[in-house]
Amino acid sequence: MEELVTGEQAAPALPRLGSPAPSFEAETTQGTLRLEDYRGSWLILFSHPADFTPVCTTEFVGFAEIASQLRERNVELLGLSVDSTYSHIAWVRNIEEKFGIEVPFPVIADLNKDVATKYGMIMPGESTTETSRCVFVIDPEGVVRAMVYYPLTTGRNMDEFLRLIDALQTTDEHGVATPANWRPGEKVIVPPPKTAEDAEERVKAGYECKDWYFCLKDL
Ligand code: BEZ
Repeated sequence: MEELVTGEQAAPALPRLGSPAPSFEAETTQGTLRLEDYRGSWLILFSHPADFTPVCTTEFVGFAEIASQLRERNVELLGLSVDSTYSHIAWVRNIEEKFGIEVPFPVIADLNKDVATKYGMIMPGESTTETSRCVFVIDPEGVVRAMVYYPLTTGRNMDEFLRLIDALQTTDEHGVATPANWRPGEKVIVPPPKTAEDAEERVKAGYECKDWYFCLKDL
């Protein structure tokens, strides 16, 4: 893996948007899994601080509730914390018993922090022993397409992950961008012109333009 040299110590290069996601092989509640197993699917790799904690429990319920909607979009979920497989199994069983929700996705038992370190999931300013609430959206070619970081004390918004996936897949399919708070079915942004000639042409193209640099269209 590419390495960055900082002072005396070499730290692993952290994930960057548009670059290949760091590869891994990890023990999970569904056996050994590798990043390469997800080739051809989108992957949401997410970390939580610890099993049997309340905010994390609400998030696991949330991720479990959107798992089938993600599947329809060819997206798999993979959780991670530095807890053991036994702890993950006990917690997932407890969630099913207490909340009536089956957790359908695997959870990495990253006891030696291998994956957490590769992905920069431990934020020492928050905790040196737990992973923060990190989310990596990885596309079917293994490229990091989005990274989202939330603090220990704030549960994540599941609707936003569905929206983010819809936006990324719409961008890939149609070569467009999506505006703030965009939802599927709404107008999209025509990519900015690269030349003065493009700018002139797009004004004539029948898009809904506020000005030469700001044009919307229906899909
Ligand atoms: C929680 O999931 O409730 C939690 C975990 C770590 C720190 C604070 C809250």
